[in-house]
Amino acid sequence: MKRIIIGLTGASGSILAYTAVKKLLDNGHEVHFVASDLGQRVMAYELERSYSEILIEFGSYRNFVHHENDNMFASIASGSYSSDAMCIIPCSMGTLGKISGGIADNLLCRAADVMLKEHRPLVLVTRETPLSGIHLENMVKLSRYGATIMPPVPAFYNKPKSLEDMIQHTVARILRALGITLDEHVTWSGLEDSSHE
Ligand SMILES: Cc1cc2nc3c(=O)[nH]c(=O)nc-3n(C[C@H](O)[C@H](O)[C@H](O)COP(=O)(O)O)c2cc1C
Repeated sequence: MKRIIIGLTGASGSILAYTAVKKLLDNGHEVHFVASDLGQRVMAYELERSYSEILIEFGSYRNFVHHENDNMFASIASGSYSSDAMCIIPCSMGTLGKISGGIADNLLCRAADVMLKEHRPLVLVTRETPLSGIHLENMVKLSRYGATIMPPVPAFYNKPKSLEDMIQHTVARILRALGITLDEHVTWSGLEDSSHE
C-alpha cells in the first residue's frame, strides 16, 4: 500500500483524475486529495456531476483523505509527513507556473513544493495546447529539479477503440510513473515477427 497525494487543478481532463483516484482506492492505496477551486468547477462541468457528489463517492472508501486547499495545517503541507508520491492531474499552466516559481500559497502548491524539497516523486500531468515559451520553460525548470512532466498525450500503438481505452491507457502510464503497476496494465513488448511491417 502506498500513500499518494493527488492534486486536481482547473485544466481540462478531470476524468483522468477521477479514473486515477478510483483505481488507487480500488487497489487499496491511501489517497490524499486536494483540489483547487477551478479544479472543482471544471470537474463538475466536464463530468456533469456535482463536485460534492464525487467527493461523497470517494469518501465511501476508508483509504480516502480529503484536504481543503486553504488548509495549510494539513498533514501533507509538511515534509515530516511521509508520502510516496504526488501527482497533479490535470495540472494547469497557472499551477505549473506557481510551483516553478516556488509560490506555495495554497495546500496543493505547498504539497508539491514539499515533494521537490524532499526529493520525492512529483508527476505533473500538464494540459494545455499549444504551449507558450513560458509554459515550456516552467516545465524544463521543474524537470531539472526532479519533477516528471507527463502531458496526457494519447498513444495509438495499443490500437484504442474508444475514448475510454485512451483514458485507461493514459492513467495506467501515470500510475506507473507513480511507481504503481496494476495487473491490468498492458506493456509494449515489441514486434517479434515481420508480419507487421
Ligand atoms: C472548462 C475550462 C477548461 C480549462 N482548461 C485549461 C487547460 O487545459 N489548461 C490550463 O492551463 N488552463 C485551463 N483552464 C484555465 C484554468 O482553469 C485557470 O487558469 C485557473 O486559474 C487555473 O487555476 P488552478 O491552477 O488553481 O486550478 C480552463 C478553464 C476552464 C473553465
